[in-house]
Amino acid sequence: MDNTSNIEIHETAFVTATFRSLNEKLSGDYYAKLWTNSKTNLWMKDYLSKVSTEDVFTHCIRNRYFLDITRDLIKQHKIEVLINFGSGFSMYPFLLGDSLINIEIDKPEIVNYKQLKLNEWQNQGELPKREINFIGVDFSQDYEQDLFSKINNIVQGKSTFILIEGVLFFLNLEETNRIFNFFSKLQKPNDYIGSVSYRNTIKKTTAFKKLIAFFNEKVTKTSADDYLTLEDNYYDTMQNYNIIDHQDYFSVSTKVDHTIIEEEDTILNEHFYLLKKE
Ligand SMILES: C[S@@+](CC[C@H](N)C(=O)[O-])C[C@H]1O[C@@H](n2cnc3c(N)ncnc32)[C@H](O)[C@@H]1O
Repeated sequence: MDNTSNIEIHETAFVTATFRSLNEKLSGDYYAKLWTNSKTNLWMKDYLSKVSTEDVFTHCIRNRYFLDITRDLIKQHKIEVLINFGSGFSMYPFLLGDSLINIEIDKPEIVNYKQLKLNEWQNQGELPKREINFIGVDFSQDYEQDLFSKINNIVQGKSTFILIEGVLFFLNLEETNRIFNFFSKLQKPNDYIGSVSYRNTIKKTTAFKKLIAFFNEKVTKTSADDYLTLEDNYYDTMQNYNIIDHQDYFSVSTKVDHTIIEEEDTILNEHFYLLKKE
């Protein structure tokens, strides 16, 4: 995983974790720093100078939003299982206490490596002990049947919160429709989804043009090179789900007292949606 000159899609997980480690107070992620390494630091510096310096904070704010939301849902006894799709190196299981059942799903190479490192750090006392159910899956493949039974064996009728952040951008529309249909089959009424996507208008911004240029230069993408954006009505018109909260980088920044430095045109503004099943 460490020796290629190009960045692979799964390696974006290292960069995301590193961003979160750069402002722990804002992200609320005090363990992200464990993932930092010299190769990622080089990628990150290159990315920040070529795309958007504000992206450290956009990633911290995203983590903070979902951390706060999940904490609230746990406190109100509304969720028992957190299922993180495209979980990368996010550290929610260690930040959310030990009452939650955790399922983390990502490409096999990511979950295998994550499991290895988390075991190592737990044994060394750098992380509290947590039980995490890892499942290796590629969302571009035919995964539904097998994944459905694996997840149901763990969930056994308990209430769930499905999180999909920093992932849809890498999927195409067909894979995205498929994954949301899959969520609907998995979930019961009153279960939740947390989803992150860019709106179509992002494509007009300087930041997005720079991001695409950077990805085209550095990142291997195997399917169509059209990165996914979604309008609000994608969620609005979703069968059986209602939007119960919708925020973005700007609105969450106001809530947590974070001062935005850059101009809007140079910021990759992600939208965060909290959906509840009818
Ligand atoms: C930018 S990282 C975000 C990780 C994590 N959700 C976070 O916010 O820290 C994107 C993640 O999506 C995963 N991913 C992208 N395409 C995928 C696919 N087709 N199947 C499974 N995982 C995928 C990558 O492996 C990577 O871990």
